[in-house]
Amino acid sequence: MLAEANKLGRITLAGAGPGDPDLLTLKALRAIQSAEVILHDALVSPAILALAPPEAERIFVGKKGHGPSIRQTDINALLVQHARAGRHVLRLKGGDPLIFGRAGEEIAAAKAAGITVEIIPGVTSAQAAGAALSVSLTHRDFARRLQFVTGHDRTGALPQDFDWQALADPVATTVVYMAKSSFAPLAAMLRGKGLADDTPAVAVMDVSLPSQLVLHGTLADLPQRLREANLPGPVLVLIGRAIKS
Ligand SMILES: C[S@@+](CC[C@H](N)C(=O)[O-])C[C@H]1O[C@@H](n2cnc3c(N)ncnc32)[C@H](O)[C@@H]1O
Repeated sequence: MLAEANKLGRITLAGAGPGDPDLLTLKALRAIQSAEVILHDALVSPAILALAPPEAERIFVGKKGHGPSIRQTDINALLVQHARAGRHVLRLKGGDPLIFGRAGEEIAAAKAAGITVEIIPGVTSAQAAGAALSVSLTHRDFARRLQFVTGHDRTGALPQDFDWQALADPVATTVVYMAKSSFAPLAAMLRGKGLADDTPAVAVMDVSLPSQLVLHGTLADLPQRLREANLPGPVLVLIGRAIKS
């Protein structure tokens, strides 16, 4: 039993931050430098992957363009298969691995296989967006809470089971992840629940990267600006009085 456990490798689940390699934690950098196999998403920038040893096997498990993404169960199986072969497997995700990253399913699969998992947090894109905009997301004059929400449910549509009234809180800062296609219906719902049309709203693409782009607007006009801009990269939308502070 002990001999078998010794043969097992291990899994590290790490956040690569929003893209700028300087925003990696030292611990994530050390994990990248010692990994034998790296399973990475599309949001992990090439500059970060370049920090891995040349001999480390890199496996892309993200979504390619509009094509189908690899199934989560297949990613879980790959993690377990490589760790069972005695390797140090690094699952590298954009931002923080525990925020909208399906980490729960990977942790459960590793535990079920008896494999040790270490988690290394990362700078989530919402934090980097606050820095890029030079605003305090919890400015005490304007925000009583900070809420991270997803624009996608499992089917890719805007979730319908939000507490909409709570989301429309005028003293909250709301950060919408995966906001590109769902921000228009989300903004319409918030306005319908009484959030003022002139509430500041900002879209940020590729935060922390040289291609970073910021679109300023309001809850009323940002949906159209976003549609017209047709941004090619990942986009977050931040809503609330604090982001104009
Ligand atoms: C599956 S979620 C992963 C979130 C990630 N775990 C994090 O903590 O930032 C993907 C979404 O995160 C946001 N995102 C991640 N990196 C980003 C970046 N560099 N710039 C803008 N948005 C980003 C976008 O909303 C994107 O659609």
